[in-house]
Amino acid sequence: MSKLAIEGGTPVRSKNPIVETDVFEQEEFDALVQVASQKKLRRAEAAVEYEQTIADWFNVKHAIAVSSGTTALHIALAAFGIGPGDEVIVTPYTFVASDTAVLEQNAIPIFADVDPVHLTLDPNEVARLITPRTKAIIPVTISGSLVDMDPIMELAKQHNLWVLEDACQSLGATYKGKMVGTIGHVGVFSTITGKITNTGEGGFVITNDSDLYDKMWGYTDFARKKSLGPASKYHFGLPCTNYRITNMQAAIGTQQMKRAWDMIRKRTENADYLSSKLEGTPGIVLPPKSPWGERVYFYYLIRLLPQVLGTDMLNFAVALAAEGVYNLRYLSTTRWMVPQHLEPLFVNKAGYGGTKCPFECPLYEGHVEYYRGLCPVAEQACDEVFWLASVHPLLEKQDLDDIADAVKKVVFELIDRKHKGLAVEYATDEHRALL
Ligand SMILES: Cc1ncc(COP(=O)(O)O)c(C=O)c1O
Repeated sequence: MSKLAIEGGTPVRSKNPIVETDVFEQEEFDALVQVASQKKLRRAEAAVEYEQTIADWFNVKHAIAVSSGTTALHIALAAFGIGPGDEVIVTPYTFVASDTAVLEQNAIPIFADVDPVHLTLDPNEVARLITPRTKAIIPVTISGSLVDMDPIMELAKQHNLWVLEDACQSLGATYKGKMVGTIGHVGVFSTITGKITNTGEGGFVITNDSDLYDKMWGYTDFARKKSLGPASKYHFGLPCTNYRITNMQAAIGTQQMKRAWDMIRKRTENADYLSSKLEGTPGIVLPPKSPWGERVYFYYLIRLLPQVLGTDMLNFAVALAAEGVYNLRYLSTTRWMVPQHLEPLFVNKAGYGGTKCPFECPLYEGHVEYYRGLCPVAEQACDEVFWLASVHPLLEKQDLDDIADAVKKVVFELIDRKHKGLAVEYATDEHRALL
């Protein structure tokens, strides 16, 4: 067995780091130059074309391109009429925006635990948490892993709830033959760098509901009425803001949608290749396929089994980074998933203006606390599920080989140490401080 790089051995990868850049080809460049040469940088025709391209791609009635996935979530909740005193059921295993969007409407996020295999909302937990105050559910297809949507939609029907699909990480996934994002009342996607399609920053909503579409349109653009045309006056009858996308982002986005299926397929090929290389490795569980349809891959997640490896995820990450295939910068980012209900924002019920509103708003007739033990399945997943690598379409076979070789090298060394009763202390206080 070769010596780990963290202990002075030769790293698996000594050459350049594995880089993820935007997919930005001649077509994107030309589209960008075109809007620039027309001197039409702000939202105009290119955005309309992008929205039509998105709607056609999903075969839905409406799409609105906006400034981010976060603002896309917000306009959907606003259009649903969510407000103070309302509860929205959310998942703890996600990026913070899926949950904080609820706070934007002064409503209360209620965390339901996740399914231990797919890491997405467990419909039984959702059912358990529905109260007369519940107004919506936000299932998140995290890293392309599907949510079992039929029981969620059934609950929504029974209790008259809105369903907002946060599909920011799962463009192209299908559930029982339906495109993810088209099953709930509104689907939301992010196109920030690194996502399946990129416009630098950006996001979009899709829906078949024309009333919701009109409302979301208004929340994007100072309550302007779309039916009155682009130069129409504003209608300040409601709280409103500006979440518009620019023509520059939209022009790139249209080209990205044209190559979306190729990029989605390539990501799946990369994930399948990693699985073929890692299959049978002890101490780790590979990402599952879905029983409900065709999942996609944003990142490639593996579950580390501490009882087999004899150590925690942080020591594993530090050893892997020394092998040259993992960037410790990720320790402090979303790639190191934290159960969202344990973020200080929620634990401390930190509200706007230094108050505890909306958590302790007089208009809220319920009571909420966020604490360890609230969602034990998600909490364990955050300790054990490691966001190993992007399966970015530009990765080369050598990159994937290096990742798989490094994982196996570290895993076998950790198991060997465990058998010999040797302690593993690769992580320093500095590393722990990054978490
Ligand atoms: C699941 C999820 N929801 C929401 C967002 C927010 O999207 P954005 O960063 O475009 O605001 C992201 C991504 O960043 C995400 O991964």
